[in-house]
Amino acid sequence: MGKEYTIAVIPGDGNGNEVTAEAVKNLEALSQIHGFSLKFEHQPWCADHYLATGEAHPDRMYDEYRQMDAIFIGALGDPRVETGLMERSIIGGIRFQLDLFVNLRPIKLYAEHLCPLKGKGPEQVDAVIVRENTEDAYTGIGGIFQKDTENEVAVATMLYTRKGVERVIRYTFEECKKRGRKRVTLVDKANAIRPQDIWTRIFERVASEYPDIETDHMYIDAACMWMIKNPEWFDMAVMPNIFGDILTDLGAMVQGGLGIAASGNLHPGQVSMFEPIHGSAPKYKGKNVANPLAAINAGLMMLDYLGEKEAAACGEKAIADLLCSSRIESLGAGAKKTTEIGDMVMEEVRKISG
Ligand code: IPM
Ligand code: MN
Repeated sequence: MGKEYTIAVIPGDGNGNEVTAEAVKNLEALSQIHGFSLKFEHQPWCADHYLATGEAHPDRMYDEYRQMDAIFIGALGDPRVETGLMERSIIGGIRFQLDLFVNLRPIKLYAEHLCPLKGKGPEQVDAVIVRENTEDAYTGIGGIFQKDTENEVAVATMLYTRKGVERVIRYTFEECKKRGRKRVTLVDKANAIRPQDIWTRIFERVASEYPDIETDHMYIDAACMWMIKNPEWFDMAVMPNIFGDILTDLGAMVQGGLGIAASGNLHPGQVSMFEPIHGSAPKYKGKNVANPLAAINAGLMMLDYLGEKEAAACGEKAIADLLCSSRIESLGAGAKKTTEIGDMVMEEVRKISG
């Protein structure tokens, strides 16, 4: 009898319910095939719930999540609610309260026809971006003074701590070693924003403990350029929160679109959270057009994190086989029905598992 894992599932807003349903369906199939069990605890936190009750995401949830094995999120955000309130309360709340300091975002192209860049294929697009996840302009330190007056002032603080920077850089080098990768690139903007020199200095010090790993250093503006011109230059890269947010949307396009890009919000050894990178796209709600591959992929990252490596690898191979077969021409919304893509992945999983 395999292990049993309890997963908090927050389908959320917009397309969240639909993509989550496909991810859960695939996770269930993989658990049956690979001999472990998943207990999904569906959570009501979403804009509808907030509008009906005034409750966005109660604080008691953090202790409840700590008793579980992982958290899965579909998508959050709804135009009927104040901008970013659902995202900050739920995604931000979980990242900060559970101290999920790593946001792991693979940029992997599964099939050449999905890449918008001329002459680039799966060999050139296979990177792992580590985005710092608990500091920077995301802490909420700052605010608006004299709002809507002539004298209005807005302050947003880019905050970096020695501990915060060091742990995420160290994680990246350790992960590089574990994955048998070659190079870690630091992305910052320490030429213009001098306090970001904390990243440059700590990176150099940590790197010196890993003489077998090559290093590289790019400023964020140049990194955006190289991601398009020479994506093969990226192997593993680590960077401040806000730059990671931006560069991974760009990276998602290089791997074919937000329809495939997934992320793991991690605190190694502790309960962690998995989600597609895409937003809730409210206009697609209930239309069965959102691509569920990013959510399915996030589910696979979760299995990998939980230690169900074979199941995760089987799911990933299913996605790769499916995309290489060209039965899915684009990863954009509406290219195929949400449920149809979910079924296609299940079919591939069953085929691989004999
Ligand atoms: C992401 C998202 C979030 C972020 C939003 C929804 C707050 O864009 O996970 O990349 O900025 O971190
Ligand atoms: Mn983002």
